[in-house]
Amino acid sequence: MQSKIEDVKFLEFSQHGDERGRLVIVEGDRDVPFPIERLFYIYGSDNDVVRGCHANRKSKFVLINVAGQSKVKVIDGKGNQIIYCLTRPHTGIYLPPMIWKEMYDFSPDSVLLCISSEHYEASEYIRDYDEYVKEVNAAASDNDIIE
Ligand code: TYD
Repeated sequence: MQSKIEDVKFLEFSQHGDERGRLVIVEGDRDVPFPIERLFYIYGSDNDVVRGCHANRKSKFVLINVAGQSKVKVIDGKGNQIIYCLTRPHTGIYLPPMIWKEMYDFSPDSVLLCISSEHYEASEYIRDYDEYVKEVNAAASDNDIIE
């Protein structure tokens, strides 16, 4: 599966609030564009830490800073990149497969919720950037073949 940088989407979830506070609902196949199989969250990362630094062959993700702030750099391996600032608990970004991602600039109170379409499988992670670019370009040249 090949993805373009335009396939990365900024998401805004509706907030249900009253005098008791706010409530954000994230349902699989409704608020995020896949059935949810896994979630994990990242907190306690120092400001100078860079996490992620991988692409996934299969997994789709939605990332939400449910507390605090962080930045996410997304790269498509074809020369395009975007930096997203996650600063609000009712916004997030959708990442399709085969997008390189790096998370950094974590605020001390950052809790970054990661929602995934797949259970964890180490072999679908590409952790070497050169290998990632090679796979992106191999897929691109396959698409060039017209039969
Ligand atoms: P890693 O993918 O390096 O975290 P990040 O992308 O946030 O930098 O994961 C850290 C460790 O946790 C690594 O040994 C793999 C393991 N892990 C799981 O076992 N299951 C999971 O769902 C995730 C995300 C990581």
